[in-house]
Amino acid sequence: MTDSIPASTPQSTGATPSPSPSPSAAAGMPATPSDATHDDVASTAPLEDGAAGHAFDPAADEEDEEDEEEPTVTLRVWRGDASGGDLVDYTLPANEGEVVLDVVHRIQATLAPDLACRWNCKAGKCGSCSSEINGMPSLMCMTRVDELPEGPITVTPMRTFPIIRDLVTDVTFNFEVAKRVPAFAPPPRPDDGYRMQQVDVERGQEFRKCIECFLCQDVCHVIRDHEENKAHYAGPRFFIRFAELEMHPLDTNDRRELVRQRMGLGLCNITKCCTEVCPEHIKITDNAIIPLKERAVDASYDPIAWLGRKILRRHKRSPEEASAASPH
Ligand code: SF4
Ligand code: SF4
Ligand code: FES
Repeated sequence: MTDSIPASTPQSTGATPSPSPSPSAAAGMPATPSDATHDDVASTAPLEDGAAGHAFDPAADEEDEEDEEEPTVTLRVWRGDASGGDLVDYTLPANEGEVVLDVVHRIQATLAPDLACRWNCKAGKCGSCSSEINGMPSLMCMTRVDELPEGPITVTPMRTFPIIRDLVTDVTFNFEVAKRVPAFAPPPRPDDGYRMQQVDVERGQEFRKCIECFLCQDVCHVIRDHEENKAHYAGPRFFIRFAELEMHPLDTNDRRELVRQRMGLGLCNITKCCTEVCPEHIKITDNAIIPLKERAVDASYDPIAWLGRKILRRHKRSPEEASAASPH
């Protein structure tokens, strides 16, 4: 029933307060004569609490709103496939509190329905939405737009892995490496069950937080620009897996020669880039790679360990034996 609502009343726009009580009362001013006009209020100085006559001019309010530019967000997204591609700008109205993945979804819904991206949980737990945001390996679902510098936001696929399409990469390399890590090999179960110290439980727990987003693999310079290294390099995600198994008090397998000789542990020069990008805040270098390097060096070069093996007639496992000893 539009004819019952005057189109120009303040209520219809919601831009001004109700005409009653008087304007001055509404502005928190001392009581003024009831015949006061807008001009009267505007010219009565000083106003308390920064209140201004502006609030009582519906026409000016509407003009101001029109003059205010709607905030926008621009995503500069890499579009293409294995044969090549380019960056494409998409500009949309900005919404408060959004993460980059929200904007990607709005682009898909409004401007580019064929834009490919991978995601699942939108909660930083599935590790699917990995990409590079302004050049930094990041989860799209955990990167808030309002925390990025002003200007276009560049979103590109992970550079270390082959492109499938747009923001989707082929991360098969990681699953191939995973197959080469000998599995957990506990001794036969004692009658009264396995026992572990709480400290050992907690040490391994940090590594089990990994969500396999592969951002650490993406940032690692050993393979990022050196495809040829992938054949003999496991990468930080799998160094934490090796470390977890090595530190497990019930594991019987010795993987130290394997990780040193076949998995490229020596190529890591502890730059800590992997630790910086890990969304689970796993201290990859300090808590996994460095202790693993120490253990691998002990196994190969420690003279006391060598003497101990001689006296006790213990044999050091070769990489082949370490792999073969896996029950899986
Ligand atoms: S610390 Fe090692 S594993 Fe981590 S990014 Fe640097 S070189 Fe790669
Ligand atoms: S260690 Fe961290 S960065 Fe690497 S795959 Fe796991 S969660 Fe991702
Ligand atoms: S969608 Fe699952 S981690 Fe981003």
